[in-house]
Amino acid sequence: MTNTVLNMKDIDKSYRDGEAQRMILDHVNLTVRAGEFVAIVGPSGCGKSTLLNIAGMMLSPDSGEIELCGQVVSALPKKKWTQIRREMIGFIFQNHQLLPYLKAGEQLSVLLKSDRKKIQELFSELGIEHLMNQYPARMSGGERQRVAIARAFASDAALILADEPTASLDSERGHHVVEMIQMEAHKRNKAAVMVTHDERVLDLADKIYQMEDGKLVNSR
Ligand SMILES: Nc1ncnc2c1ncn2[C@@H]1O[C@H](COP(=O)(O)OP(=O)(O)O)[C@@H](O)[C@H]1O
Ligand SMILES: [Mg+2]
Repeated sequence: MTNTVLNMKDIDKSYRDGEAQRMILDHVNLTVRAGEFVAIVGPSGCGKSTLLNIAGMMLSPDSGEIELCGQVVSALPKKKWTQIRREMIGFIFQNHQLLPYLKAGEQLSVLLKSDRKKIQELFSELGIEHLMNQYPARMSGGERQRVAIARAFASDAALILADEPTASLDSERGHHVVEMIQMEAHKRNKAAVMVTHDERVLDLADKIYQMEDGKLVNSR
């Protein structure tokens, strides 16, 4: 399939828990195509962040393979991973992870080599023009998360990964933030994966998987 962006094959991951090994991901397979918005739900501690961090090349699986846009990236040497992350992946973290000493617009220009016009277009598209010259400390939680989303979209990465993007937001703001991710996937033909335990935003996803005992179960 040519338009497959993310292909995770037979991913295993376990952590040592005292004397025992605890299997967090148990032969997980996941395929996400361009233009598709996938949600993965499951209770706290079930392995959602572990899965997303492996998809985002921030953590190695114990075994299995990761393909991005047809390239087996998990086989590449570790020092290439940073470049792959920067070019192919936009990551939205649970706690925004904005840099405190940069204004909102500057958070993006680090990535876009100061292409002011493109940043302005992106901010206005997301309805956050007014935040351009604000520091994170002066923003609300929802505003910070929207800037973090703009940053993830700015690099034109083929894959968007979002780890509980609504965790710190009320239901209206949470819904709005997830709408932004859905729109980016549909309009710009990106692949997006969101992990969450927030059932209120699942209506926006094209596909939903449930994480159960280290496996993904198709639920829509
Ligand atoms: N670096 C680590 N070392 C040991 N155990 C870990 C580590 N990271 C996560 N875990 C454990 O793996 C399980 C899954 O964690 P996580 O992927 O963060 O779950 P979720 O994001 O669904 O809440 C948890 O029980 C957690 O304690
Ligand atoms: Mg988590």
